[in-house]
Amino acid sequence: MMKHFLDISYLSYEEIQHLLDRAIYFKLSKNYPQFLKKTLVNLFYEPSTRTRVSFEMAANHLGIRVVNMDLARSSESKGELIEDTIHTLFAMGITLFVIRHSQNGLPQAMAGIFQDGIHVINAGDGTHAHPSQSLLDLMTIITHKPNVDRLKIAIVGDVLHSRVANSMQWLCALMGVKELVLVAPEVWHPRILQFGRVTTSLQEGLSDADVVIALRVQQERLATEEKLDLAHYHQQYAITTNALAQAKSDVMVMHPGPINRGVEIDSDVADGPRSFILEQVTNGVFMRMAILEALLSSTL
Ligand code: CP
Repeated sequence: MMKHFLDISYLSYEEIQHLLDRAIYFKLSKNYPQFLKKTLVNLFYEPSTRTRVSFEMAANHLGIRVVNMDLARSSESKGELIEDTIHTLFAMGITLFVIRHSQNGLPQAMAGIFQDGIHVINAGDGTHAHPSQSLLDLMTIITHKPNVDRLKIAIVGDVLHSRVANSMQWLCALMGVKELVLVAPEVWHPRILQFGRVTTSLQEGLSDADVVIALRVQQERLATEEKLDLAHYHQQYAITTNALAQAKSDVMVMHPGPINRGVEIDSDVADGPRSFILEQVTNGVFMRMAILEALLSSTL
């Protein structure tokens, strides 16, 4: 049984396949189980639009009540520890804790110290993991290109600081993706690689690619020596119509969002016929429903 949802590395092939199947079923059937009397709290210590709202939408579809904590006005601003906040909310009957935090491993640490009955869901921890994002990305990919063992996927951008790229590496390895290429300037190359290979050449990375995932340049995570001239970065690494000429003609262009138009991706690509960015957002609701269902039932 899945007690917490922390990282792809905690899941088996069968568990991932089950989540994909259920998310696709929810999307196609609009037949949703109901978990009335359950309550979920969104604890977002970093900004979010997609992840926070889609967990709320997913919970609403499943009959789960949602509390959105305004953390700037919570008692943590008076010095309360996050673990005391969680104990307090649990005492009120909340059992599902969706946590986004800038500290790597914070959701895992919280999952380790709480009693039975609490489910911790990682909504992105620092530069470490963003497992629900990688699952909704895979759901989007297999909807259009189901044979992952034949796919070349390129992830382009700030791979070093990307929790999306980290979770995607685990997922691609587990699900048997044929080829994963991480394209980045040398200063943003990952220190540890779970799967795939790294290149500095956008042309090589995009050559015959089936899927291209552009990453946001995360200015807020960059040390001074890691900051690049954005015009120069755009020239070398942006996903443009010109750059996409190297990829397969039916290439899927994806981005976890939020996008920086004119930095890592051009508007004509982001809004063009090869873009699946809004489909990723739609799928996020159904994938998060599958995750909540798996936590609240004994299906996994
Ligand atoms: N992809 C993603 O995590 O977006 P948000 O920061 O808007 O949640």
